Amino acid sequence: RPGIFRSLVDVKQGEINRRIYSSPEVYKIEQQRIFSRAWLYVGHESQVPNPGDFILSKMGEESVIVARGNDHKVSVMLNSCRHRGMKVCRYDEGNTKRFYCPYHAWTYGLDGRLIGVQDYRETYVPPFDRGEWGLVRARTASIRGAIWATWDDGAPDFDVYLGEAKDVMESAFRPVDGGDGEIEVLGGVQRWRVNCNWKIIAENGSGDVLHAISHASVDMAGINPSEGEGRRDDAGQFVLSTHPEGHGFIYTKWPVGKERVEFRRDPVVSAWFTEKWRLRNERLGSNAGVWPLLGTIFPNMSFHCQQPRSILVSHPIGPEQTEMWRVYFVEKDAPEEVKQFLKRYYLSYSGPAGMTEQDDMENWQYATNGSLGTIARRYPFHYKAGMGQEGRDDQIAGTVTEHPIGSEQNPRSLYSKWAELMDSSDWDELLDRRKAGE
Ligand code: FES
Ligand code: FE
Repeated sequence: RPGIFRSLVDVKQGEINRRIYSSPEVYKIEQQRIFSRAWLYVGHESQVPNPGDFILSKMGEESVIVARGNDHKVSVMLNSCRHRGMKVCRYDEGNTKRFYCPYHAWTYGLDGRLIGVQDYRETYVPPFDRGEWGLVRARTASIRGAIWATWDDGAPDFDVYLGEAKDVMESAFRPVDGGDGEIEVLGGVQRWRVNCNWKIIAENGSGDVLHAISHASVDMAGINPSEGEGRRDDAGQFVLSTHPEGHGFIYTKWPVGKERVEFRRDPVVSAWFTEKWRLRNERLGSNAGVWPLLGTIFPNMSFHCQQPRSILVSHPIGPEQTEMWRVYFVEKDAPEEVKQFLKRYYLSYSGPAGMTEQDDMENWQYATNGSLGTIARRYPFHYKAGMGQEGRDDQIAGTVTEHPIGSEQNPRSLYSKWAELMDSSDWDELLDRRKAGE
């Protein structure tokens, strides 16, 4: 029915029907209307630095190969042989000259071109056009090393898709000192499954300021950069910002010139961060402390930008199950001691064994479970916090609410974009409707 998803997601009332977290039909439509249309984060250039390097990633439920060609260009391709669908790459990462299908030996180049077919001359008479049978390639874009891809030729260009969030991504993938240095993925990808709907993770990552209570134990245990000496938001003002494209963020406004001491129990690490902050203040002046803390780029890429610096992608694998892929970042030229320290810190803070992730996963599983029951499903979830309190900010783009107003404006915006895409047969229809103010 036209508009059905907008009726399930009533952002004007701040009420969302629980079926969107549990219905297999909704899930199926999401695969077609969200995950085969949206720009999706697939990896970081530092994971494939040299020609022939590749990693596996996912777009929605499907496996993709991210590979760097001899011309240094990165291609994103469906990891499915065009002959009979076998995975042409079964290693998580590596370096290769070609992708060789183990089933019947079709061979593909680093850009997905079909370059070899077994007994091609004898078997295929007349010959078929191998140029037509390469791996399915996605459109790609990148921003400060982060690689994105979409299957949809009709999708707006990545810049338009990001909108004002482009600036957020620009600063998210910069080093702490705010300069042009490179950051790199620290170690490998952590992957694990959690029994919850992917949207619960995405909305949480977009800026759920209300759930800070869940992480009280982390602050008590001192597993944060201030190591138990006060919560970080005591010193920096939190500001929520969101955009019509469905992206949402929390910024910090750290007082100008205020000394920021992190990880003080380790003198080398602490001195390294202090110096980076000094450079940041010098370089960015009054904007130094206005920095995204975390957020979600619609639909499923969530990130933390300060400490920990990390990306979490919530790949759906069913209405009630999600595969989490998390990576951490560090300055490429940071001393080994800092890298080793951060590795240990990151693993204790997030990831499957990390304390904050444990807190969050418990909540997300119960929230998903709470949308399954026959009776429970009749009652919508409540997303009314901060309604009508949205404003503007002269330093932060988008629709803005200053914490401590416990606003749910970011989840409301994410679901509103979700419903728009779910209700539109293609991007053109969505953009036309938007123009008509529907
Ligand atoms: Fe790949 Fe047959 S499935 S060659
Ligand atoms: Fe959390």
